[in-house]
Amino acid sequence: MRAFSSRGATYEAPPNIALVKYWGVRDPERALPYNSSLSVTLERLRSRTTVRFDPDRGTDRVVLNGAEATGPPREAVVRFLDRVRAAASVPLAADVRSSNNFPTASGLASSASGFAALAGAATIAAGLELSPRALSRLARLGSGSASRSIFGGFVEWRAGTRADGSDCYARPLFGPDHWPELVDLVLLVEGAPVKSVRSAEAMQRTVRTSPAYRRRLEEVTGRLRAVRAAISARDPDRLFPVVMDECDSFREVCETTRPPLDYLTATSRAILAEVRSLNRAEGRAVAGYTHDAGAHVHVFTLAPDARRVRGRLARLPGVRRTLLLRPGPGARTVDA
Ligand code: DP6
Repeated sequence: MRAFSSRGATYEAPPNIALVKYWGVRDPERALPYNSSLSVTLERLRSRTTVRFDPDRGTDRVVLNGAEATGPPREAVVRFLDRVRAAASVPLAADVRSSNNFPTASGLASSASGFAALAGAATIAAGLELSPRALSRLARLGSGSASRSIFGGFVEWRAGTRADGSDCYARPLFGPDHWPELVDLVLLVEGAPVKSVRSAEAMQRTVRTSPAYRRRLEEVTGRLRAVRAAISARDPDRLFPVVMDECDSFREVCETTRPPLDYLTATSRAILAEVRSLNRAEGRAVAGYTHDAGAHVHVFTLAPDARRVRGRLARLPGVRRTLLLRPGPGARTVDA
């Protein structure tokens, strides 16, 4: 058995929001996506996870936000621990405690921050020393988007081409301070339905049944290139339109899935319409929207416009709260 840390280990990881989406895997077992994706890591929000392998424990104990987890959420953590146990030759049950510094009910709870934090805490507790790249590869197996939450700033997750997934990991493109004016207004909407199907399952339904999926795959590489170039040039006129096109493409393949996947509420749709009309009225790309498999909407804009954009969107009926977030740092170990 490896020399595991009897004190356990604590790791913290941020959520991220994808500008170019991951949706569909070519290999579900290894979580190998069809296309590369690109996200912004968000500041301030964090999942913090402590893992301790314990020779006196019979079974894993998983406590999420203060409540003992059961059923599928617990099983996902146990499966992930099994991989770490196998890789580290530490055949011990673990005590896992994880909490978010943002309310779970806010709808921002993210499997990305959760599995990135679990990957860091579990490997260190098991005595493994993984590079950030190896950690990204491992986190991917818990939740695809978690591969990107290892890094701060603007992050690309390369789909890779190898069958074993060895070239499938995220890497940082630009640090959190690359574009100080860029802000993400997160609009939390009322009545956001709780996700009924895990994204991992929903996206494979899309692959199987959406007639629009093949075209999405043909177009997404071009959009990824455009997003990368626009961020590099810090150019909102190039970035915001393509981010919205990409979000529309993601929504199109969801809506044409059988049975359809509809993540938005009337308020979410009103926010998208308001951003379009704002850009039309001003004759420039003032803002760009995106959303994930949920009803809350992220609106990117530049700091000088943020107050005005926020004022306009916050008064739409059904907007419960807005957060203003910037790109933030990546995952890190926390000293006990
Ligand atoms: C729409 O990797 O979060 O957010 O953890 O299996 O539910 P599960 O999937 P996850 O799927 C993310 C899908 C997305 C797009 C993205 O983040 O790239």
